[in-house]
Amino acid sequence: MANTSRSIHGQWSSRFAFILAATGSAVGLGNIWKFPYITGENGGGAFVMVYLACVAALGIPIMIAEIMLGRRGRQSPINTMQSLAQEAGRDPRWHYLGWSGMIAGFLILAYYSVIAGWAMAYIFKAFFGAFIGSDAIEIKQLFDDLMAKPTQQIFWHSAFMFLTMAVVMRGVQGGLEKAVRFLMPTLFVLLVVLVGYAMTTGTYDQGVDFLFTPDFSKIDADAVLTAMGHAFFTLSLGMGAIMIYGSYLPGDVSIARTTFYIAGADTVVALLASIAIFPLVFANNLEVGAGPGLIFQTLPLAFGQMTGGWLFGIVFFVLLFFAALSSSISLIEPAVAWLVENREIERHQACVWSGLSCWALGVAVVFSFNVWSDVTLFGKNLFELLDYLTANLLLPLGGMAIAIFVGWQMQRHHAEQELALPSSGFDVWYLLIRYLAPAAVFLVFLHVAGIL
Ligand code: TRP
Repeated sequence: MANTSRSIHGQWSSRFAFILAATGSAVGLGNIWKFPYITGENGGGAFVMVYLACVAALGIPIMIAEIMLGRRGRQSPINTMQSLAQEAGRDPRWHYLGWSGMIAGFLILAYYSVIAGWAMAYIFKAFFGAFIGSDAIEIKQLFDDLMAKPTQQIFWHSAFMFLTMAVVMRGVQGGLEKAVRFLMPTLFVLLVVLVGYAMTTGTYDQGVDFLFTPDFSKIDADAVLTAMGHAFFTLSLGMGAIMIYGSYLPGDVSIARTTFYIAGADTVVALLASIAIFPLVFANNLEVGAGPGLIFQTLPLAFGQMTGGWLFGIVFFVLLFFAALSSSISLIEPAVAWLVENREIERHQACVWSGLSCWALGVAVVFSFNVWSDVTLFGKNLFELLDYLTANLLLPLGGMAIAIFVGWQMQRHHAEQELALPSSGFDVWYLLIRYLAPAAVFLVFLHVAGIL
């Protein structure tokens, strides 16, 4: 029987609306900003292969599990975990999983908003023609200048956080859904245009080679952890974001099929962005391991040189901004839904409080790119620390816990009932969730800790 319950926060108007919103959450800075730079830092092809394997073998099964939990629980992740644990007759402390997710989302948003602020700043740089006719050195200078100026970054970070909270305040259908309707297709078209430009650089083959010819000697346990963590990050897994989107999902929608669409679109965007970027890196003798500034130091070169580049530049950064916005709303939604359910405050108040505290942490992140760049812990500044703690630790741990809960704690027939899959499909998924997913995450952790 289909699940006919509803969440008190509302429901998506259709399956298509859910796909759009979940794709909006998945496709973001992770695909266009983060994936290319970590691929560059970790030597290219082999890293890409490990990442793709993680998306297929861990990301997709865990995404199915997480959406399913959300739809069955119909509340914020913390309360969902508590009531599902109760339903299965298990320890109610499973709700700590919801807590870790809420905290992870909060920590990610603090730096996510800063990077999205860079994208906003670049809309205006593009508009005022800052890229036109510039060479690689001038384009790098532009980025370094922004990094050196905390006030500018704080301004854009504040603007982005304000807009995120304004959208979240309007609730599921009013805010989240409308924000993504037209943006994803347009972003896709623009990326294809950029790949077209990359083909004219003369270093296209070199770029593609870098991305798709694996050299496994270039990666170690840490790189594998980064690839695995990024599979979770890019699909918005392991912290309750997709769980809460699932909680607004009508009961008769096929979760597995929907997941394939979302993961497919997400992967294609990340690959297109990289194919657009690396030929430019080689054509201009830039550093593949340039770090978080990579897209800001490469794509503007293309916009400065190609026909119509002025317009494309503006449109690209506007879209990047929207892609970030449709992701950021899902980072804070679990915290907001929890405040509304448990603290009995209004949605708009919940937004103000969670937004303000996240904003404050973001200001500290801004400083980690300039005045506090020397303040480090374990050799990492605040930005790097938050990124490592969330993407490399909290999300994989959250994903592993979700797999263990669904595979070993929840009753099998409840999962069967929610997913309504043909039995062979269900069996494959169940094997991956029960054995492969928890074991793989665990083994990677052991390797990184040096125990294996
Ligand atoms: N997936 C988004 C990106 O790639 C970021 C994101 C949004 C996210 N919601 C999340 C990451 C929840 C982890 C968990 O940009």
